Amino acid sequence: MRFWKTIEHRHIKPALRHLRPYATATYAGLRVAYKPHLDGGGSSFGQDFIPVLRGRGMPKVARAFEWCAGPGFIGFALLAHGLTETLCLADVNPEAVAACRKTVRDNALEKRVAVYHSDNLENIPAAEQWDLVVSNPPHFVDSGIGQLRYHDPDWSVHRGFFGAVARHLNPGGVIVLQENNAGSTPDTFTAMIAEAGLKVVFVQDASAQRTTQSHMFYLGIMRPGDTPPAWARG
Ligand SMILES: C[S@@+](CC[C@H](N)C(=O)[O-])C[C@H]1O[C@@H](n2cnc3c(N)ncnc32)[C@H](O)[C@@H]1O
Repeated sequence: MRFWKTIEHRHIKPALRHLRPYATATYAGLRVAYKPHLDGGGSSFGQDFIPVLRGRGMPKVARAFEWCAGPGFIGFALLAHGLTETLCLADVNPEAVAACRKTVRDNALEKRVAVYHSDNLENIPAAEQWDLVVSNPPHFVDSGIGQLRYHDPDWSVHRGFFGAVARHLNPGGVIVLQENNAGSTPDTFTAMIAEAGLKVVFVQDASAQRTTQSHMFYLGIMRPGDTPPAWARG
């Protein structure tokens, strides 16, 4: 019995998920292709990025990157709502990358959007330089074990990102991470950000203690030598 359960969970269910047809989420006329098992919240709370960035007064940027993009709900929404002119997306899951590429084809965005299959930033070419980085990355070090969408073992995915992102930032470039207070607090990341030679420029909507229910907060991060633009202060 246990043998068949293992076969079902490890092989049959993933194969069936793979065969499922794409669903579509539409943002200001841009149709984003996805499969439900690739959605890490980008189609729901991830859309809060739009009012958060608008509320801070962020002007349109030339190029944005969505780290841990999944199907790219957040990045494509930034593009659709006119918050970025062009977009770069990357994810380690080949199924998520395939969904992003389908959206690019379906919306004829080849000239404005680049998609990379990459473990963290490993396969991102040096020529990729960003004004804005957004992400809803895996949020938990101690739950969702083994699940790409949820689990960041020993925060190694975050640490790897902080250590690699600075060389892809344009002068004045800002990183805005959406984190979950049920899995972390701003303090969880402060030392790793400093060790990577970056600084926190704003914290928004955070509680100092881990919460029992999911509650999203935002961390604004920059290179220490760069002056934060008005929208990323405080
Ligand atoms: C919380 S989900 C978010 C997905 C999507 N951004 C959204 O908002 O729905 C986290 C994403 O991180 C990706 N991921 C996990 N580890 C990664 C790594 N080492 N490098 C790149 N992407 C990774 C997963 O494949 C997943 O798509």
